[in-house]
Amino acid sequence: MTRHALMNTYGDRAATLIKGEGAWLWDEKGKRYLDALSGIAVCGLGHSHPSVAKAIAKQATILTHCSNFFAIPNQEELAKNLCQVSGMSKVFFGNSGAEANEAAIKMARLFGNKKGLKLPTVLVMDNAFHGRTLATLSASGSRRVQAGFEPLVSGFVRAPFNNIDCLSKIADNNHNICAILVEPIQGEGGIRIASDDYLSKLRQFCDEKDWLLMLDEVQTGNGRTGKYFCYQHGGIIPDVVTTSKGLGNGMPIGACLASGKATDLLQPGNHGSTFGGNPLACAAALATIKTIQVDGLLDRATVVGERIMSGLRSELAGVEHVKDIRGLGCMIGIELNKPCKSLFGMAMAKGLVINVTAESVIRLLPPFIMTDDEADQLVAILAPLIKAFNKD
Ligand SMILES: Cc1ncc(COP(=O)(O)O)c(C=O)c1O
Repeated sequence: MTRHALMNTYGDRAATLIKGEGAWLWDEKGKRYLDALSGIAVCGLGHSHPSVAKAIAKQATILTHCSNFFAIPNQEELAKNLCQVSGMSKVFFGNSGAEANEAAIKMARLFGNKKGLKLPTVLVMDNAFHGRTLATLSASGSRRVQAGFEPLVSGFVRAPFNNIDCLSKIADNNHNICAILVEPIQGEGGIRIASDDYLSKLRQFCDEKDWLLMLDEVQTGNGRTGKYFCYQHGGIIPDVVTTSKGLGNGMPIGACLASGKATDLLQPGNHGSTFGGNPLACAAALATIKTIQVDGLLDRATVVGERIMSGLRSELAGVEHVKDIRGLGCMIGIELNKPCKSLFGMAMAKGLVINVTAESVIRLLPPFIMTDDEADQLVAILAPLIKAFNKD
């Protein structure tokens, strides 16, 4: 099939995938792959989950789209459910992670302008990834996503991730800061996990300074780390949390949730989206949340992730080029002491889908519905590849 009519944003594709079921994908030649990527942390319930497929099919025959000029009952129900599982108070729906973060950044600016700040500024982290729109790539901490798109959007200052001590000095030097935007675990940045008390210390700091604490849970949300949102491991409530990827198990949808002083920042006319929260996307997300709850998939994400990590730890013990194996729930990183992008192709050849990020970190984002046997198969394919890997 020719791809010449597509802009070349993704380079060469590794395979043409035409079917998915559970933790498995099939290419056009009928080859089967075990999926340890879930479409980049999207299909936590696996592919073609019957409850989600049924909900989408049913809604498609009732009403797909009508715009936000009208009330949408299942959008209201989804917002209520999201508030219940998160402890947050109100929700704005968009279509992607970057859009959810755009809403958060706009809310920070509204908050700062209300406070009378001249140049409302958001504190963001080194190595962060928040998306590819102009504001979110400017907030990201990677030159790779920014290069060529200058001038960047202003109104961001940067701090080292997982470092509380630097914050007072940064705050003293910039009186325009009104919010912190941070990922609880840096996913694209290499599965970098903050220390246990990082978020609670950020919460305390933001309260002292009257800043908004805004968490980007686009990747960590929707059960991936074993709680519905990752901040629930630390027992805090942020002012703003954004999510997307796993929310609709493959149906495009994003959400920006607010609580406390952020709850009513957005008012009529401030923000909008033609598709955001349309009936079809909301039907998929409602079915996804229900399945996570009914099938106990938060606990399952923890069990699957721990099984994979402990399997890899025992198989790779003493392997010199393996620097670290870390993760939380079904968000796992295996850091090597050298670039390892070519492992992706090697794994594909063996029928396994993985990802390599931050040059030298193998990222695994398996679906939570993986069976114990599938988790063991993953380890049995991947560990020998890593062991034998000595060049890129
Ligand atoms: C933490 C985080 N924020 C934002 C995004 C952007 O999401 P999207 O690609 O849906 O715009 C991503 C995507 O990888 C992400 O991991």
